[in-house]
Amino acid sequence: MRSVIDILDLTVEELEELISTALDIIENPSKYAHICEGKKLATLFFEPSTRTRLSFEAAMYELGGNVLGFSESNSSSAAKGESIADTAKTVSCYADIIAMRHPKEGAALVAANNATVPVINAGDGGHCHPTQTLADLLTIYREKGGFDNLTVGLCGDLKFGRTVHSLINALSRYKNINFVLISPEELKLPSYVKKGILVKNNIPYEQTTDLETAMPKLDILYMTRVQRERFFNEEDYLRLKDSYILTPDKLKNAKESLSILHPLPRVNEISVAIDKDKRACYFKQVLNGKYMRMALILKLLKEAGTI
Ligand code: CP
Repeated sequence: MRSVIDILDLTVEELEELISTALDIIENPSKYAHICEGKKLATLFFEPSTRTRLSFEAAMYELGGNVLGFSESNSSSAAKGESIADTAKTVSCYADIIAMRHPKEGAALVAANNATVPVINAGDGGHCHPTQTLADLLTIYREKGGFDNLTVGLCGDLKFGRTVHSLINALSRYKNINFVLISPEELKLPSYVKKGILVKNNIPYEQTTDLETAMPKLDILYMTRVQRERFFNEEDYLRLKDSYILTPDKLKNAKESLSILHPLPRVNEISVAIDKDKRACYFKQVLNGKYMRMALILKLLKEAGTI
């Protein structure tokens, strides 16, 4: 059974196919409105979410399907000690496809190995978040027309930010991509991502703590929240949380063509004054996420022979 746990579970050709489907959904929503009639998506969220869970649910409703699930582990039998494997086997009896978020790295893979329906990783701890990457990719595609020849600044919590890890994996497969990794020392990109992806594939990158110096060269600025929930102590979080706050004055040397992305939720990283700047793309990203999740649900249900 085909599941999507990591963005690398999808080939470059499949990413193009998903983008093409999403663009067609945007143009012709009525064509897709009944395809999933009688089918059910289960959203198993063991960790808080607004965008991912609700966009999965909106996606399934807009495909004509139905949704069941839970939004916190305390309202499921996980609170009584049920394993992820047993949860996945159980939910496979009720739903045609599962989207799961869990605080533990690897949890989605365990679910996929035990489910009898496709499982989509909706975020597993600090590991990865492939459907956020699908939202990011459609946003970059619609803003830039493609993925080659881009200088991408990733700013904030590069250590725990799973969306950053997935985005680096995805963009590393395109031509002439440069990364500028902007973070405090303590929140630098983990070595397994740096060595395992950037060094291994000869992808040019630089590391800095200084956002303003990096700004003029960037085509994409991907801001991220410091991931409070992954810190071992509150003091460190409080010291690091406001390391980068994007305000209009910090954009004075930025390209006019810059695209500012953020997976959201934001806390303080982007001043609300930026929201009306034409370069702000983060609420477009939110909407793009729904279209890409619709495209992914369709693809996996078709491959499973369910629709
Ligand atoms: N970007 C993202 O994953 O947002 P939520 O945590 O609200 O789902």
